[in-house]
Amino acid sequence: MTAPVAVTAAAIREAAATLKAGGLVAFPTETVYGLGANADDAGAVRAIFRAKGRPADHPLIVHLADTTRIDLWCRRMPRSASLLAEAFWPGALTLIVPRSPRVLDVVTGGQDSVGLRVPSHPVAQQLLRGFRELGGEGVAAPSANRFGHVSPTRAAHVVADLGEGVAMVLDGGGCEVGIESTIVAFRDEDAMLLRPGGIAQSRIEDVLRGRLIAPAHDAPRASGTLASHYATRTRALLVEPDRLAAETLRRDERDESVAVLARSMQPRDFDGAWIVAPSDATGYAHALYANLRDLDAAGADEILIELPPDTPAWRAVHDRLARATFGNDDDRD
Ligand code: TXA
Ligand code: MG
Repeated sequence: MTAPVAVTAAAIREAAATLKAGGLVAFPTETVYGLGANADDAGAVRAIFRAKGRPADHPLIVHLADTTRIDLWCRRMPRSASLLAEAFWPGALTLIVPRSPRVLDVVTGGQDSVGLRVPSHPVAQQLLRGFRELGGEGVAAPSANRFGHVSPTRAAHVVADLGEGVAMVLDGGGCEVGIESTIVAFRDEDAMLLRPGGIAQSRIEDVLRGRLIAPAHDAPRASGTLASHYATRTRALLVEPDRLAAETLRRDERDESVAVLARSMQPRDFDGAWIVAPSDATGYAHALYANLRDLDAAGADEILIELPPDTPAWRAVHDRLARATFGNDDDRD
C-alpha cells in the first residue's frame, strides 16, 4: 500500500516531478485532500477518474499557485469573479468561469466553463509552486476519495480509499476547514451558489453587495450536488435532537447495533459508539468527515446523526448531511 509521505523539501520536489511525469499525487488543502494530476496531460487526468471510480463527464477543479497566469485557463473573468478572487484567494472558494480554448475537455467534462481555485494550504502552495518550476501550470484535483464516499481530511483516509491507485500521498496532517470549497458559478455577472462550503454564503454576498442566486436548472453539473454523495458505507439517518436518546435506546434494546454522531451527552444505559461533535458549525465541519469515517469503522447496523441547528452558519454542514443520508428514511414507525 502507498504510505503517506512526510512533507520535506525533497518530498515536495519528488511530488512535483511525479505530477510533471503524469503521475497522481494526493495532497492536503485547507478544505479536504485532493487527488492531483497535471491538468495539461489528458492521460494523467483520465487516471484520476479511474482511481476514484468517477464518471468521466464530471468536471474537475484546476488548482493554481496564484492568479498570475489565470488567462491560460479563463477566457474572461466576470467582474464579480475577480472581486471574489481578490477577497477569498488563496482560500476555500472555487470559481466556475468561462474556459480558455486550451483547457482540456477531460478537465471540464466538455463544458464551456472551468473550475479554478487557489488553495491556501502551505503544502498545496509548495507543491503548486514546485510544479510550476518544472514548467507545469495547473493541477486538476477532485477530493481524494472513492466516488460518492466521504471526503478525506487526513492522509490515512486517502490511503484507505485509494491505496495503490495513487503514486504518492503527501501527509499534511488534518485539514483545517474539513469540508469542500464553496463553488460559485457565473452567468455574465450573475453569481450562482453551486455548492455551499468553506466560505460562508454571507461573506460572499457582502463582497458582491448582493445575493447569490440559486443555480438554474441548466446550470453546470457538479457531482457534489448529486442527491446522494459524501456517504458512509453504513446506512446513516438524521434524527431530531429530542428523539436521539429514545431512537438510540430503542435500537439498542432490539440488539441492533448503532453508532451515533451526537451534539449531546451519551445516555447512561448506552455503551455503543457515541461521538459528541463540536457545538459550533466551524468545529463541527472540521471534524465531520473524520467522525463519519470513525463511526463507519464501528461496523454498526446504522449511524444516527443528531440534526444540527437550522441557521445560515450550518448551511454547508446540512448540505453534506442531507447527501450523506439521502434516501435513508426511518421507515419503521
Ligand atoms: O475543496 C475542494 O473543492 C476540493 C479540494 C481538493 O480542492 N475539491 C473538490 O473537488 O471537492 P470535487 O471534484 O470532489 O468537487 C468539485 C465539484 C464537482 O462537483 C464538480 O462537478 C464541480 O466541482 N465542478 C468542477 N468544474 C466544474 C465546472 N466547470 N462546472 C460545474 N461544476 C464544476
Ligand atoms: Mg468530491
